[in-house]
Amino acid sequence: MVQVIDIIFVGKLIHTPSLGTLEIEDATVGVHQDETIRFAKSHHMLKNAEVHVLKPLQFFFPGFIDTHIHAPQYPNAGFGIDLPLLKWLEKYTFPIESSFRNLDRALEIYYRVVTRTLSYGTTFASYFSSLHTPASALLAELCFSLGQRAYIGKCNMNTLSPAHYCEKSCKSSVEATNVLVSFMSQLDPNRKFVSPIITPRFAPSCTKDLLKACGELAANHDLPIQTHISENLGEIALVRELFPDRKSYTDVYDHHSLLTPKTVLAHAVYLEDEEIETIYKRQSGISHCPTSNAVLASGMANIRKLLDAGIKVSLGTDVSGGYTPNMLVAIRQAALTSRSLASVLRDSRIALELPELLYLATQGGAEVLGRGHEVGSFEEGKAWDALVVDVSSETNTPVDIYERDTWENILSKWVFNGDDRNVAQVWVNGKLIAGTECKIEDTSLL
Ligand code: GUN
Ligand code: FE
Repeated sequence: MVQVIDIIFVGKLIHTPSLGTLEIEDATVGVHQDETIRFAKSHHMLKNAEVHVLKPLQFFFPGFIDTHIHAPQYPNAGFGIDLPLLKWLEKYTFPIESSFRNLDRALEIYYRVVTRTLSYGTTFASYFSSLHTPASALLAELCFSLGQRAYIGKCNMNTLSPAHYCEKSCKSSVEATNVLVSFMSQLDPNRKFVSPIITPRFAPSCTKDLLKACGELAANHDLPIQTHISENLGEIALVRELFPDRKSYTDVYDHHSLLTPKTVLAHAVYLEDEEIETIYKRQSGISHCPTSNAVLASGMANIRKLLDAGIKVSLGTDVSGGYTPNMLVAIRQAALTSRSLASVLRDSRIALELPELLYLATQGGAEVLGRGHEVGSFEEGKAWDALVVDVSSETNTPVDIYERDTWENILSKWVFNGDDRNVAQVWVNGKLIAGTECKIEDTSLL
């Protein structure tokens, strides 16, 4: 049977299909009617197809996957870096999140978050929203209509939070979560683009019955889970005090059935060896948030150690602990953190190489979010979630055309100098949805 190809892409294709592997090739890619990638093999498939040929100094790259970002903290991005985690939460974070009870505000800010992250090339994000179900539903609708893949979790938090920003009980927290799950099941029944994610904020903000209920919610609805773990020494001491019966922070989550193959654990800076073993056994994944870890002076996570232990690792911007939703900045900071740690610990192996860093930001994210077979790299049968990256002289990338830079050099220059100006096109599931060369603007939601 002759397969009909709808769109043909011709140009340089760069991706990291596995940890440490960088593939750079001149390719002709066909995107099939069913919106998955098919490599075009013969001419009759080209009939009636729309053909996109890249300009010189443009290349295709998989869309970025941000596995940890707090959408309602966006208005705080870039300020409030004077306090450690627990005081920072109290002074800056809970107040901004509590303002999302106002839906007009939520619509304005969330529209900006989704369009901005898309402009940086994030095609899939795992969002924490606030504790409010209506605003969380709005975020889901925005992602769905603007074309960004997203996991959306309303925060479960019923203790140790300010009175004006705390759920009344375990029961009301579960009920509010169920309302969001039902809403999103109607919005996207197959969870192809948007899915709920169970989001116990972190151990200190949940009573034991709520932690248990979150584990049950995830199991009953077959949903992913996201939370924070072992980010800051003060936080770890608090967890020890609140859960004296448990061996470790990891054990608190494990005891409440929160460590599954679809669990995303953000930060993981101070894990003990036994905790690393447990996380590996449960096949849970880590979201490394190096920008936030530096801003809040939380610490430096040794990612090489986690990778050596066989744990799935990805990257998160963690706005607004992180000061920008630009995934290139997360990659840079991951590079620099690993290099600093390598020098402090006198072990050069700790430094992460560029192909590894790019993997963490793409295929690594897909693996951690349980979608490694669908997105994250360019392989037959996967969805076409791709960026057209432009590193020509009109952008801010110092490519040296006379000295004929290698593509490896160009890639590195893009990573360390790039921003949204380099993102010419953003494709999700075979559809052009954003980018500097994209004229599509959906303002109908405003
Ligand atoms: N731990 C609990 N809540 C948060 C949050 O909003 N940001 C970060 N970085 N850590 C947290
Ligand atoms: Fe966070």
